[in-house]
Amino acid sequence: MAQRLNVSYNRKPCYDIVFSTGWNELKEELQELGLTERKICVCTDSNVDALYGEAVLKLVSDCCKKAVKFVFPAGEEHKNLDTVKDAYRFLIEEHFDRKDVLIALGGGVTGDLTGYVAATYLRGIDFIQVPTTLLAQADSSIGGKTGVDFEGYKNMVGAFKMPRLVYMNFETLKTLDDRQFFSGFAEIMKHGLIKDAEFYEWLIENMYEICERDLDVLSEMLMKSCVVKKLVVEKDPTEQGERALLNLGHTIGHAIEKAKNFELFHGECVALGTVAAAYVSWKKELLSMEEFYEIRDMFVPFYLPITVEGIDPEEILKLTKSDKKKDGDSIRFILLKKIGKAVIDTTVTDEEILNAIKEIYFDEEAND
Ligand code: GLY
Repeated sequence: MAQRLNVSYNRKPCYDIVFSTGWNELKEELQELGLTERKICVCTDSNVDALYGEAVLKLVSDCCKKAVKFVFPAGEEHKNLDTVKDAYRFLIEEHFDRKDVLIALGGGVTGDLTGYVAATYLRGIDFIQVPTTLLAQADSSIGGKTGVDFEGYKNMVGAFKMPRLVYMNFETLKTLDDRQFFSGFAEIMKHGLIKDAEFYEWLIENMYEICERDLDVLSEMLMKSCVVKKLVVEKDPTEQGERALLNLGHTIGHAIEKAKNFELFHGECVALGTVAAAYVSWKKELLSMEEFYEIRDMFVPFYLPITVEGIDPEEILKLTKSDKKKDGDSIRFILLKKIGKAVIDTTVTDEEILNAIKEIYFDEEAND
């Protein structure tokens, strides 16, 4: 029997997150939501399509009026307005109207892009998140952030659009390659660091099982992680304040992602950005030196990077200024007061940011 968690929006129950280990219960969920008389478009990328596209399409065809599939090329470079236009065209050709529904089947790119199409097609239609990566299950499928990149700037165009349902099939975690899997883990660690020291300790205690992808432990981990995310987005759904805490590691992380031309995964950049943020926190005497090194080294057993080569620290600093996480001219930087407690800080200077970037920069020439 699947477990579930309800997420409220503006203090009213809004959508369920369903935790499952198969596809079958998705059918019951669609029936439960009264969607069987609707046309459904399964939106997915070429990688996920090869794994689960047909199974999900068949399941949806069996219980809904009509099911079609929109497949776009995999990769962050396709998370843009061109793919959005292709999706609009497809939906128009398939005569989708305002009552019809999209299902985002895949990772963060698919969820964000499909959500944005759902938010804007015919001024908004329903959509369901079916995240298949650890990153999407832990983070991006929850909370209604949707959007695409614009001219290399991450998530520059987007909208808040709550899904009707988030359906997670944990079995999908088995088909992720190691790099994808551990990249997603960075967002889970982030939830412990910003809000829940007990969860952070639990992650350390269960390190071996997590790395071995023990499904029971992964289920428990995701449920705990989703509770943190749920509580934050319920309090501040449109990021007027506290939701910004979820951006720990993202200001510098996004800058590295762009500078490296998306060659590093999002979670890898978040790990690097978190080490840098912890460094600033130490230098501002919020964290002790021991805490900084503990946080930094905690990423290592999960195969996440704590240093990066081939960057220009000055360029990264410049790129942090074009990230969205700004408040007027100042950057809303997320710092750590201790493990389990993050704060928003708008006083971090360029020099402090630059020193933090240098801390994570591995200069090959200097180390020859
Ligand atoms: N991924 C950060 C947020 O949902 O606000």
